[in-house]
Amino acid sequence: MAVGLPAPGRGRRRRTPVIDVRDVSRVYRPTPDLEVRALDGVTLRIGRGEHVAIMGTSGSGKSTLMHVLGCLDAPSGGRYLLDGVDMADMDEDGLSDLRNRKIGFVFQAFNLVPRTSAVANVELPLAYAGLSRTERRTRAVRALTAVGMGERLHHLPSELSGGQQQRVAVARAIVTDPPLVLADEPTGNLDSRSTEDVLEIFDDLHRQGRTVVLITHEDEVADRAQRVVRLGDGRVLSDTLNADAAPVARGAHRTDDPGPGGWRTLGGGVGPGDRSSPSGPTSAGQHASAAGVRA
Ligand SMILES: Nc1ncnc2c1ncn2[C@@H]1O[C@H](COP(=O)(O)OP(=O)(O)OP(=O)(O)O)[C@@H](O)[C@H]1O
Ligand SMILES: [Mg+2]
Repeated sequence: MAVGLPAPGRGRRRRTPVIDVRDVSRVYRPTPDLEVRALDGVTLRIGRGEHVAIMGTSGSGKSTLMHVLGCLDAPSGGRYLLDGVDMADMDEDGLSDLRNRKIGFVFQAFNLVPRTSAVANVELPLAYAGLSRTERRTRAVRALTAVGMGERLHHLPSELSGGQQQRVAVARAIVTDPPLVLADEPTGNLDSRSTEDVLEIFDDLHRQGRTVVLITHEDEVADRAQRVVRLGDGRVLSDTLNADAAPVARGAHRTDDPGPGGWRTLGGGVGPGDRSSPSGPTSAGQHASAAGVRA
């Protein structure tokens, strides 16, 4: 790492956490006389390029927190700053634009659109990006190929295994080249082989410098993260570093507009159109291979 004073503004930006949650609460009132404090004063900062696992018993507030982090839900109290910007200052249009540009969200239940092919599912987030039909298709095929699903482009979700559906869901989350990837138990319903495939993909996303936050119940999954945050009753119980995990990627994936060039194919390869420009913090050689990912 270079020693010296950072250029004005640059150092400050570099130190700005991607995720800055300050005393956030989320209270549900399913009926007038019932109040559920799903989040109860959560404070959490996550830096650029970190790989964090969120754990906790069922009902401890993990999904609620993830929805706040993904700007899918607003806190009842406290503040959430994403890349230094307070989400309370954003209107609905601003939030959806931000979700589209900066965040890839993988839902536990896949949430693929039924009766719609894998490639059409992955194209969906690109509909807002103003890309041509051809460009959307190219990028969706590239994302599916990256997760080992290049041979299943035209299968419907009902024609795919659980692990394959989850990989399509991951492809949909990364097709916009988001610097921040949030995943709610992405391996919760998978067998051990599919779990390994999906975890390889997340490891690669992290090696490329993306910030990866995932919820898991499994110690083996959490062991691959650099940091483990445990929730209980809507509070942070512990926040520990994993000594054995891979170090934070040197440099950082940009957090602003990803541009049309997109990301490199996961697993150390390069995708069509990317062949000459492996940009970003890692060289292809630094990627562990996800080539074992099966279609
Ligand atoms: N829409 C809602 N209305 C009312 N209560 C809710 C709502 N969503 C979640 N809760 C409650 O908030 C608490 C936290 O829920 P959350 O889904 O965040 O838990 P979790 O940690 O993700 O659990 P799991 O591991 O089972 O997925 C739970 O007690 C739940 O019943
Ligand atoms: Mg949950």
